[in-house]
Amino acid sequence: MLIRRASDIVPSEVTPESLFRARRTWLGRAALLGVAAAAPALPLASVMAQGARLAGVKPNPHYALAGEKTNPVTEFRSYCNFYEFGSSKSDPAQYAGTLKLRPWTVAVEGAVLKPRTFDVDELMRLAALEERVYRLRCVEGWSMVIPWVGFPLSALIQQVQPTGQAKYVEFTTLADRAQMPGVRSGILDWPYTEGLRLDEAMHPLALLTFGAYGEMLAPQNGAPVRMVLPWKYGFKSAKSIVRIRFVEHEPRSAWMKANPTEYGFYANVNPNVDHPRWSQASERRLGEFGKRKTLLFNGYGEQVASLYAGMDLQKFY
Ligand code: MTE
Repeated sequence: MLIRRASDIVPSEVTPESLFRARRTWLGRAALLGVAAAAPALPLASVMAQGARLAGVKPNPHYALAGEKTNPVTEFRSYCNFYEFGSSKSDPAQYAGTLKLRPWTVAVEGAVLKPRTFDVDELMRLAALEERVYRLRCVEGWSMVIPWVGFPLSALIQQVQPTGQAKYVEFTTLADRAQMPGVRSGILDWPYTEGLRLDEAMHPLALLTFGAYGEMLAPQNGAPVRMVLPWKYGFKSAKSIVRIRFVEHEPRSAWMKANPTEYGFYANVNPNVDHPRWSQASERRLGEFGKRKTLLFNGYGEQVASLYAGMDLQKFY
């Protein structure tokens, strides 16, 4: 994000080689665990690896995005941003295959009555998983349409019961130098962190996400658990989360620390507020040739605009 301009991104970056390698790693791991990609659905408790099918997950018709085609799963898994594994789009598919996904815990703490550390398989069973098709608009100027699998973050928030002091939520993701080659670089002040206002985090669109395309997330897409916030630029959707902390003051995200003039706390998709180095008025849907107009709040204005009523969105970018 610091490095590339939207106009620099070309479809040929979806390299067949990295795709092939990622898929090979992924299938290899699945085979080791006796879970072929096309295996029948498994009970959630026994699911150990990415690529396993998620049982009994139904599409939620409220989030179907009629008339918009989902991007191919191969594109989703090969064209990624995950700086812990490198800054080029093909790096995560190439290097994230070795990320150890179990055991994995998520500490939920801070200003809550019931702090708790969840094993990720236990976390995944906290509420019914459903499929939701969301647009993902990256700040760099590309977008995709993805069928995610998860449940609203609000289900978790209700469990831990925030106190009156909890005004914001901070997400911290794994930063393990041994497993993540990008963490050895100084590109960000690791770990990658992100934040939301509590009411944003409680919004029904905010999805705690474990899968996509009916399967467990692949490591390069943020396994075993990530956020998806479709009305915000993609960088708000933190991957491979290990801590969710409820705090009183607005947290500074890793991107705000790296470059506060370019990346703000809110990061709502907004065609009227340019990035200092490029326009945000349009985007390229991966797989399409022309450009589309970017929609305010990424097209989710009806649902989320009230969260920002009375706020100057030029100032709170
Ligand atoms: N989370 C972590 N931990 N590290 C990252 O570099 N990149 C973000 C976001 N979450 C990132 C992250 C950015 S810039 C985008 S656009 C989305 O992940 C991309 O998600 P995808 O690669 O699964 O499409």
